[in-house]
Amino acid sequence: MNNSARLVKQIIKPQMVIEGAGVRLLRSFGPSRENLFDPFLLFDHFAFNDPLEGPPVGFPTHPHRGIETVTYMLDGNVRHRDSLGNMGTIGPGDVQWMTSGRGIMHEEMPKRGPSGEINGFQLWVNLPAAEKMSQPRYQEVIAESIPLVEKDGIKVRVVAGEYDGVQGPMTEIAAQPLYMDVTLEPDSQIQFSVPRGHNAVSYVFEGEGVFGIDDDGQGESIEALAMVEFEDGENLSVRTNSDSPVRFMLMAGAPFGEPIVPYGPFVMNTQEEIQQAFIDLRNGTFVQA
Ligand code: FE2
Repeated sequence: MNNSARLVKQIIKPQMVIEGAGVRLLRSFGPSRENLFDPFLLFDHFAFNDPLEGPPVGFPTHPHRGIETVTYMLDGNVRHRDSLGNMGTIGPGDVQWMTSGRGIMHEEMPKRGPSGEINGFQLWVNLPAAEKMSQPRYQEVIAESIPLVEKDGIKVRVVAGEYDGVQGPMTEIAAQPLYMDVTLEPDSQIQFSVPRGHNAVSYVFEGEGVFGIDDDGQGESIEALAMVEFEDGENLSVRTNSDSPVRFMLMAGAPFGEPIVPYGPFVMNTQEEIQQAFIDLRNGTFVQA
């Protein structure tokens, strides 16, 4: 038997959580010592689209250490400001890839777009022990600079990694990630190659598709909203039936296989390193120029 096709391992229903100054989020998974999605730590979907909610609240100034946070907007904006001196607005289709390294302080404040909606994702990617205390780094790519591959009813925005010979703009990320926004029209099919041993997950946020197609053309029908985890393998295939398109984020990365200790906005390898983060905050040495 050829077992190179990545099958569906599990389907996770996102759960409502409250973070920041009272922001409601749909969380598919969060940081845990089990580190089940290594190198990915967290995936949140923020959608503040209840008119009774009033003005959106955000994430006032907070620290991060030991991780990368990746913000991808579909609709609306996030105004941000950080201790590296970056300041600006992440708008629809834009990506911010923030490598906290040893320490960054930032503020993230969502704003509704012209449609009245805010819709986007935040992904946390782990850093290996050797890079947890590295220099903070910040990459922002505006929508127009993210390559779009469009063919045969398929649209792929390549944020990181490669699809069909097209390379995404995010580079030098330790986890060697694939991060793509994929849309399939009805009656379409797509195949990605994901290196064996890398972990792959997919967040389905519009429509319905058949995921994890095996060598006999069979897969699992999955409807938005859902997080799909895949088995190991080389090829990952998704198709649509004639009655629905599907849109999903595909994420894959090389696991670090290191123990982790998550605590709020910090993810380190040991309890002592978490304590050190608090000591540095208290002593004013958390952020270094
Ligand atoms: Fe943050």
